[in-house]
Amino acid sequence: MLNKEAVNALQQYPTPFYYYNLDTLRATLSEVKKHALDKGYRVHFALKANFNARILNEIRNAGIGADCVSGGEIARAVETGFNPSEIVFAGVGKSDDEIELALLHDIFCFNCESVQELKVINGLAVKHNKKPNVALRLNPDVDAKTHKYITTGLNENKFGINEEDLDTVLDLLPSLSNVELIGIHFHIGSQVESLEPYRQLCKRANQLNAYIESKGFTLTVINVGGGLGINYQEPDQKAIPDFEAFFGVYDELIELKPHQQLHFELGRAIVGQCGSLITRVLYTKPGRTKNFAVIDAGMTELIRPALYQAEHALNVFKTTTGTQAYDVVGPICESSDVFRTDIMLPELERGDMLAIRSSGAYGEVMQSEYNLRTRRKPVYSDDLK
Ligand code: LLP
Repeated sequence: MLNKEAVNALQQYPTPFYYYNLDTLRATLSEVKKHALDKGYRVHFALKANFNARILNEIRNAGIGADCVSGGEIARAVETGFNPSEIVFAGVGKSDDEIELALLHDIFCFNCESVQELKVINGLAVKHNKKPNVALRLNPDVDAKTHKYITTGLNENKFGINEEDLDTVLDLLPSLSNVELIGIHFHIGSQVESLEPYRQLCKRANQLNAYIESKGFTLTVINVGGGLGINYQEPDQKAIPDFEAFFGVYDELIELKPHQQLHFELGRAIVGQCGSLITRVLYTKPGRTKNFAVIDAGMTELIRPALYQAEHALNVFKTTTGTQAYDVVGPICESSDVFRTDIMLPELERGDMLAIRSSGAYGEVMQSEYNLRTRRKPVYSDDLK
């Protein structure tokens, strides 16, 4: 929520910059606590969604662990005070250096994606005299019904171990002296807007859990990943995702044995709504068929519209009676640098401030150096005067 005081206080900063409302984040975290942590579920925050240290501190203080996908993220998680025993390491292409870093920190678990990766981890563990926990990332072939670039749980995707390779992996595991199989892991995709794919995932997870345990393995960790979507259309009315319904699917459908604990890896649902990209109109330009509003933020600051055709709500802070249809575009020399097309907005003038909402996840972290643009520090609600 961007109230009037916040908007006034934000006027003093040069744009573009990210603004984080820490109250929104805290309110979101307390819902996660209520519907997941208090029930004994473990939640790991996906640092790929946001690795800003101030945001991470809030998340860690709420009792949430870290889900990392690179050595850099593991280092950041440790630096920000996450206990290594609460760090999981996922990713389809872990390098040897990254695996060694994770081994040296004694992280909680590696989510392994292939037979070869298991062998490499085992070899490096022998070298360092370690015996890390591993979970098998299994491809459940469940359609998350989201954008194709953020669908991960189908057979055609590069992620996870496919069903036909599972027996090979299970046969191999007893010969790998320095890895300990403790669980199974899934992640079907991101910005999942319906709960149905999660119901299907529960069914698959139950079958695979029963099958692997029937082969004599003990699985203590059932990690069902993340992906819960946020409401990009109505960031104020629906500021907090419906965690009750989401975790409720698992309360109802996942079959846990007494020795098993359910783990989640949420990113977007935790941080998406607390961030806005604050920008100003540089120029208004009537085109032949369109009116353009050229703003000072571009795909270099927020790539989601260009990459996934994502539509983020825009707030304009002015009171005029007139409205007009605009294509809101960034300054980068790429035709994909467009935030919204044909959106009705109050009549815009040079200097007007806009907020591009729901940018707390996959916003700041996906910024690029393209065009050597100036990167400004984020602003936090706690620091506004
Ligand atoms: N776990 C794994 C294994 C993942 O691959 C991901 C996200 C997550 C957890 C967290 O997913 P979340 O709860 O945030 O949906 N840049 C894209 C999203 C990429 C998501 C990649 N994996 C976007 O801006 O929409």
